Amino acid sequence: MLEDTYHRIIDYLRISITDRCNLRCVYCMPEEGVQTCSHDEILRYEEIERVVRVAAALGIRKVRLTGGEPLVRLGVVALVRALAHIPGIEDLAMTTNGILLARHAPSLAEAGLRRVNISLDTLHPERFRAITRWGELDAVLEGIAAAFAAGLEPVKINTVVIRGQNDDEVVALARKATESGWHLRFIEWMPVGDAAEQDWHARVVTAAEIRAHIEAELGALVPATVNGAGPARTYKVPGAPGTLGFISAVSEHFCATCNRLRLTADGKLRPCLLAADEIDLRAALRQGAGEADLKALLQKAIQAKPLSHHLADHIQVRDRAMAQIGG
Ligand code: 5AD
Ligand code: SF4
Repeated sequence: MLEDTYHRIIDYLRISITDRCNLRCVYCMPEEGVQTCSHDEILRYEEIERVVRVAAALGIRKVRLTGGEPLVRLGVVALVRALAHIPGIEDLAMTTNGILLARHAPSLAEAGLRRVNISLDTLHPERFRAITRWGELDAVLEGIAAAFAAGLEPVKINTVVIRGQNDDEVVALARKATESGWHLRFIEWMPVGDAAEQDWHARVVTAAEIRAHIEAELGALVPATVNGAGPARTYKVPGAPGTLGFISAVSEHFCATCNRLRLTADGKLRPCLLAADEIDLRAALRQGAGEADLKALLQKAIQAKPLSHHLADHIQVRDRAMAQIGG
């Protein structure tokens, strides 16, 4: 079992398998001039598999593949198949923007993927295009339907709420989710990368504010449980199939129950999403590190986990873009 300095059990590894994306969400990337890693810089699938084997031997039980957009990397189904067979890995999930999901959902499920989280910030096609710059809303809705059809459940929807962008839609999204059996989680926008401009705090819509809007329209929400809810506090409208979660990284951090470690696409272990500290696993992998060396580096990353982040003190994350860390 992996335990950090603050007695948190770390059993969850999030792996960004590419920093590339087929969208350009305004809060995540600029439209042009995005610097991506070269082919040699990103970890090969064999390297990822090796890391997961070692991590599983140490006590990691849950793995999530993220990006960028994981489905733009060729051969991802084979990676899923390899990871799903590693002893100790009990839960294998993916976070995707859903654009390519309709095509891949059946083979991902067959290869051993358990479930997906799909990013969706709006239900209006033109607004979807404005936020993602390149995306078609229908493709994502088809992806969500395909995820249900393939049994990649619970299907979770991630909605980043930003003042002036989609805060007027939280009730409509909540209604759609509760009716459709989606487990939708409203995520407070975090100031990461270039998006972290001076007045970022004014654009954060707190979980409490979102919940108040929803309860004013849909009535009181009652607590609900969802498998693998992580840091989300989850509720439901009594009798409805879907649930509503709130992820309040900014207004009320959940660092005390943090159970995760992150691996960037270029092979750096990142102890905390919101701290610049990293450990270079790729160099070790390519210099012939043995299992004991890799274990030691994973342990070191876990010992480097900070007690909490400092967003509330208006400190921003500037060293990397979200697409390189994987959320
Ligand atoms: N703050 C909060 N969530 C973000 N995401 C991307 N950028 C941010 C941000 N700055 C979300 C995406 C996706 C998940 C991987 O992270 O919408 O759902
Ligand atoms: Fe791509 Fe996700 Fe970033 Fe949007 S938020 S550009 S879908 S990585």
